Amino acid sequence: GAPQTRTPTGAETGAPPTAKGQQGAYLTTANGARLRDTDHSLKAGPRGPVLLQDHHLREKITHFDHERIPERVVHARGAGAHGVFTAYGTGEAVTRAGFLKKGRETEVFVRFSTVLGSRGSADTVRDTRGFATKFYTDEGTFDLVGNNMPVFFIQDAIKFPDIIHAGKPHPDREIPQAQSAHDTFWDFVSLHTEAQHHALWNMSDRGIPRSYRTMEGFGVHTFRLVNEAGETVLAKFHWKPKLGVHSLTWEEAQMLSGMDPDFHRRDLYDAIEAGAYPEWELGIQVFPDTPEETFAGIDLLDPTKIVPEELAEVQPIGKLVLNRTPTNFFAETEQVAFHLGHLPPGIDVTNDPLLQGRLFSYVDTQLTRLGGPNFSQIPINRPHAAVNDMLRDGFHQHAVHAGVAPYRPNSLDGGNPFPAGDAEQAFVDVPVTVAQAPKVRANPASFDDHYSQARLFWASMSPVEKEHIIRAYTFELGKCYHQAIKERQLRSLANIDPVLCEQVAAGLGLPAPQPSVPLADVTPSPALSQVGREWPSD
Ligand code: HEM
Repeated sequence: GAPQTRTPTGAETGAPPTAKGQQGAYLTTANGARLRDTDHSLKAGPRGPVLLQDHHLREKITHFDHERIPERVVHARGAGAHGVFTAYGTGEAVTRAGFLKKGRETEVFVRFSTVLGSRGSADTVRDTRGFATKFYTDEGTFDLVGNNMPVFFIQDAIKFPDIIHAGKPHPDREIPQAQSAHDTFWDFVSLHTEAQHHALWNMSDRGIPRSYRTMEGFGVHTFRLVNEAGETVLAKFHWKPKLGVHSLTWEEAQMLSGMDPDFHRRDLYDAIEAGAYPEWELGIQVFPDTPEETFAGIDLLDPTKIVPEELAEVQPIGKLVLNRTPTNFFAETEQVAFHLGHLPPGIDVTNDPLLQGRLFSYVDTQLTRLGGPNFSQIPINRPHAAVNDMLRDGFHQHAVHAGVAPYRPNSLDGGNPFPAGDAEQAFVDVPVTVAQAPKVRANPASFDDHYSQARLFWASMSPVEKEHIIRAYTFELGKCYHQAIKERQLRSLANIDPVLCEQVAAGLGLPAPQPSVPLADVTPSPALSQVGREWPSD
């Protein structure tokens, strides 16, 4: 058939993306006319006025006037790096994803971020950290868009605008810039007790990582994996850092916010430039794909719950090495666009209602942030797999598509310009049975336990980690103006642990309430404490 495209972009050819911004030895206009002088505008005589006909002046200033794009609505501040993922082959039994076959190497780009602060905020604030990885696999891009904490604040994506509105600065004062230390955050968390577990992780040392290099990462949701035989399992993704998990102390974090607000991005950049390449192991927890979608009584569709590693071991399936810093922050770190729907054959989504809403949200926000529907053609977003899609035209279209109009079946232009899918190679949606049930705006009852895993986390902490948590709650809640909010949050702490509640209450000068639910009987999970956690193998 006729060639589908003529432009030599990575998007069409599968060639690695090039991003040559500067060519030739001479300074030119955007249209390539050589410039003699870029320092003076064209004037009617040395004392002016400036002439409207000065195209170079107008081009230079006009382009500058449009240099900024909107920052991400969340995770605005981040730092990225390129690297390589090498598969151990240990995932092959459960997924047919080609990039997980033994020895396979795949290029990646990772962006770490804070959640709440704006682009210019400090790195070391107390917050969740984003850990988003783009695997440029030869079967299409796989984006694993996770965080450094394994649970999330909410169980349903419809609440995402609400939790973020509550966590972002107050609309009148635009404070606080990048922290959860304020009334609306604690108002939300104390009124939506499903958020207590994630909030506890935030108040722990995990909320102030020492370095991106010493953070764990989690896909949070449960995914569905499919192997060559079409068999499925449910799985959760984990990143484990080679350097172990380490945090700052609160005093260090506060000082660094002033002394070096770029502490984490500097650390990442300097480490890679020095050849001290950061490494993580990717692991999976694997669960049988049963109709209940539960494991050990834990609902695998509830993103506020973990499965303790003691109950389901994290099995290493590959290694990530970050070995190259970005050439240009804007081109790479700022323009990268992740999406949970970017899945290779062998990895599929589940019905987790938080995950389902995310599938809609990312591309929607990127349409605005990156100015139209063609941002997958931006070099950092180009798949390294060959692309032959039926998407056409639109703002910032860089491809020159050849042939007739894209529709299928199509008998013109060489007979078969838009080939049918190859079932062997293609992504196949797992034919999961959908429940025969009435439409409802409701959660399953299994989502209602909001405290037992928060209690498990607390029980798993070492004494010094507990002390840090008590001080964090006391500091953060101490910033609230409304006593009713502090009191309501103390009532939730009482349901997590009486000692935690009493100590924070004492710090706030308030009485400690009694629990309103029976306290769960939990067995501490050593894997949750950071004390003594190191790289599992070398
Ligand atoms: C951005 C993680 C839930 C909407 C991000 C980023 C990460 C992330 C890591 C930054 C990506 C980057 O570096 O460019 C997570 C995790 C979640 C979660 C782990 C829960 C498990 C949600 C939900 C929504 C949402 C429920 C909406 C319904 C967004 C949006 C962005 C974003 C709009 C900005 C994307 C962009 O501008 O490119 N998220 N998120 N997230 N997230 Fe989430």
